[in-house]
Amino acid sequence: MSKTLILLFHPDLKRSRANAALAAAAARLPGTEVADMYALYPDGKIDADREVARLLSADRIVLQFPIQWYATPPLLQAWKDAVLTRMFYIAYPTEGRLLEGKPLLVVATAGNVPEAYQRGGANKFTMEELLRPLEATAHRCGLPWQAPFLVYRADKLDDLSLHGAAKDYAAILETWRRQDARRFLVEAWG
Ligand SMILES: Cc1cc2nc3c(=O)[nH]c(=O)nc-3n(C[C@H](O)[C@H](O)[C@H](O)COP(=O)(O)O)c2cc1C
Repeated sequence: MSKTLILLFHPDLKRSRANAALAAAAARLPGTEVADMYALYPDGKIDADREVARLLSADRIVLQFPIQWYATPPLLQAWKDAVLTRMFYIAYPTEGRLLEGKPLLVVATAGNVPEAYQRGGANKFTMEELLRPLEATAHRCGLPWQAPFLVYRADKLDDLSLHGAAKDYAAILETWRRQDARRFLVEAWG
């Protein structure tokens, strides 16, 4: 079965409600691996060999995290520095090239309301604009960019809304897996 890899970057997953619920729903899907990156690397030192192998074992990749200071948590940047730099600048023929074509989905939770992330809103920039560095990274690495899955008001969602968001997330992942499997078959068999 093809594999969806979710790299979860939450600095304090034990106190998380939103990301914990989303990750739990995703983890129940067949062919899905959730890697809790802060648990794996509490000292921030990424094992590049292990993470390159993890990426290459996947068919599609999810980066999931809470928005912190309008950006990703710092371990995600450290992961890019350690893993993507090696794959695409040091070992491109044997590593980076093999990752190309795997689609990338960003899943982000934010404390603020959607209206705050509109042009002229309280946060001045849209979420799509704030996520541009990741979109540029995906473009640089040849990873087809998927429309991000965004959860706003993440600290204030009641149980029902959070359950709904987790269900929507699981449905998106499942549809993505099926579409991707179909695309693979069409490419393989015409
Ligand atoms: C250090 C820190 C910075 C944050 N910065 C932002 C921010 O820039 N924009 C925003 O909408 N929410 C911000 N938040 C709120 C988090 O995005 C929110 O608490 C998180 O998405 C909730 O998910 P969780 O239950 O998985 O922790 C911040 C939270 C922390 C702890």
